[in-house]
Amino acid sequence: MSVATSTKTLVPSDILAAKGGTPIVCLTAYTTPMAQIVDQHCDVVLVGDSLGMVLHGLPSTLGVTLDMMIMHGKAVSRGTKHAVFVIDMPFGTYEESKEQAFRNCSHVMAQTGCAAVKIEGGESMAETIEFLTKRGIPVMAHVGLTPQSVNVLGGYKVQGRGKDAQRVLRDAKAVADAGAFSVVLEKMAEPVAKKITKSIAIPTIGIGASMTCDGQVLVTEDILGIFTEFQPKFVKRYAELGAVTEKAIAAYAKEVRERKFPTAAHVFAGGDE
Ligand code: KIV
Repeated sequence: MSVATSTKTLVPSDILAAKGGTPIVCLTAYTTPMAQIVDQHCDVVLVGDSLGMVLHGLPSTLGVTLDMMIMHGKAVSRGTKHAVFVIDMPFGTYEESKEQAFRNCSHVMAQTGCAAVKIEGGESMAETIEFLTKRGIPVMAHVGLTPQSVNVLGGYKVQGRGKDAQRVLRDAKAVADAGAFSVVLEKMAEPVAKKITKSIAIPTIGIGASMTCDGQVLVTEDILGIFTEFQPKFVKRYAELGAVTEKAIAAYAKEVRERKFPTAAHVFAGGDE
């Protein structure tokens, strides 16, 4: 199914069909250039509400608005050709009622052309997920650590330890039964992530959950070393682009201050264009 080996545009049902097969690769993107790169290698491109912290310097995802998601969603749509393009619904835009959820999700889809939305929550969101999917809105669910509920969960703690495992399992089963095409399992005890992956019919996409999940997702700026405010233990850095960028900017600033760059001779050496 992998986008890397296909020219076809993937759709949510392709992700559903990938349950138990080659692991599903998912990363976030918030801009056109990043989407163009991610799209070449991933099955799912997610405009996550983590953009609040990563791009906008907010302390949590709670201050992210629908307009922010739509603006970044439009940018990502211009860079996504093959992967399933999913947008996170921000806090306060879907929890009040299934009607509110439909109004805002359909607005996001119409404005951005995304193929699906992601919403946080388990049993409490099952009715809404069923309502949306029956009305043409594919839903990626998200259980375990749900960052929009940080104030109720009491921080960004590992979920599903001990007796709490039953709650997380019930949440995953509820969203699968409600018709979600996949579910993100965030920061949970590995035994429960394994059990969920074995016992539900939809793909699980892990983030700090288990290697046995049907796929994995991370924040792109985390794996590139661009966002370094904090590094969750489950993030592996594949590059140190923050440090490389800082070095390049320092070199530029030094040359400008020393009047080494740019000189007219340097800029127009090859002609007048
Ligand atoms: O907001 C986000 O980036 C997410 C993660 C699952 C990557 O929801």
